[in-house]
Amino acid sequence: MGTIQLSGIGRSFRSTVAVGDIDLTIEDGGFVVLLGPSGCGKTTLLRMIAGLLEPTAGRILLDGDDITELPSKKRDLAMVFQSYALYPHLSVRKNLAFPLKVQRLSAAEIERRVEEVAESLEIGHLLERKPKELSGGQRQRVAVGRALVRNPKAFLMDEPLSNLDAKLRTQTRHELTALHRRLGATFVYVTHDQVEAMTMATKIVVLNAGRIEQYGTPEEVYDRPESVFVAGFLGSPAMNLIDARITTSDGEVAIEADGVTGRLWAGRSDDLDIVLGVRPEQVAVATAPLTGPGVRFAGRVEIVENLGGEQIVTCLVAGSRVFARTSRDLIVTPGQDVTLCVAVENVHLFDRDSGRRLVWVDDAEPAAVADTELAAV
Ligand SMILES: Nc1ncnc2c1ncn2[C@@H]1O[C@H](COP(=O)(O)OP(=O)(O)OP(=O)(O)O)[C@@H](O)[C@H]1O
Ligand SMILES: [Mg+2]
Repeated sequence: MGTIQLSGIGRSFRSTVAVGDIDLTIEDGGFVVLLGPSGCGKTTLLRMIAGLLEPTAGRILLDGDDITELPSKKRDLAMVFQSYALYPHLSVRKNLAFPLKVQRLSAAEIERRVEEVAESLEIGHLLERKPKELSGGQRQRVAVGRALVRNPKAFLMDEPLSNLDAKLRTQTRHELTALHRRLGATFVYVTHDQVEAMTMATKIVVLNAGRIEQYGTPEEVYDRPESVFVAGFLGSPAMNLIDARITTSDGEVAIEADGVTGRLWAGRSDDLDIVLGVRPEQVAVATAPLTGPGVRFAGRVEIVENLGGEQIVTCLVAGSRVFARTSRDLIVTPGQDVTLCVAVENVHLFDRDSGRRLVWVDDAEPAAVADTELAAV
């Protein structure tokens, strides 16, 4: 078992609030990724769970037991650091054995566990080497191995792949995912890399300035971002975010923005400043004027970037850039006028003041689509 509950957890450094009032339940066996930009509080939060940093507010529970005051080494948790933190003067074998010696296990038991972990991570041939005689990837495995020998309730990892080159990162990512599946243990994993988060996590915590913006599965966070921040953080290129206004007349709602064709539906009774969001892969580029349902932008192609398997078409819409990810079969050239079209169900609306996602009355799918004229670019 390894259920971690955070209740009102906070940490301030003098006047800086690094983590503020976080409530979070990390379920047993989950692979939970703490994701967010530099300085948002990821490491601070992880170190509090590990017992390496005292919270200034709140409680931490592990399987229902309050461990807030428990020293780090008495918590049944193992941490893997970005720097690996191996003992340079000890061999790999002794590095792996170290946490078990601290636990005062018998020499035979230590030997057995070290061999077992070394074999599972394919580092058996490295046991007599010192850390400086290892590659970055091998050091990373030893650091994971040192956590593994303890057979903890949960693994806490702070950007463990950030020192590896791109190819090794991908390979190690796959290995960690397989390891998680094999062990069935709880993983709490810090990264600012959205690809790692999307591919490894069972759930993602998106952090911003010490607070949780959203907690959900990768699909929920990507497909239904709860805030402009989350929408703009995930995806490459990120979601297109355009200032607009919705206005109502006769029970129908229009989106008003320069270069954007209003699309209408019923369900709101007040006018509102909004941010309209569309994912680049959901923007279709048409070289002829379009009619019919959907939100349309009148744009002009600025750049076409060939990514090999697909292309990114950057368009100017009323002075702002809108990115479309399209098939390379689409032939467009810079300077060309185009119409960008997005299906109604793929449009995200956010309140511009609060940045929060707008939910329609009864959370119903927008219906009753009608058209208006294209506005001028
Ligand atoms: N010991 C400290 N003293 C003062 N401020 C600190 C201390 N440790 C962290 N902070 C501040 O707390 C905030 C969160 O830091 P933290 O290291 O948790 O960020 P992070 O999300 O891990 O960032 P990164 O991705 O750069 O590692 C930052 O503003 C940082 O400057
Ligand atoms: Mg950090």
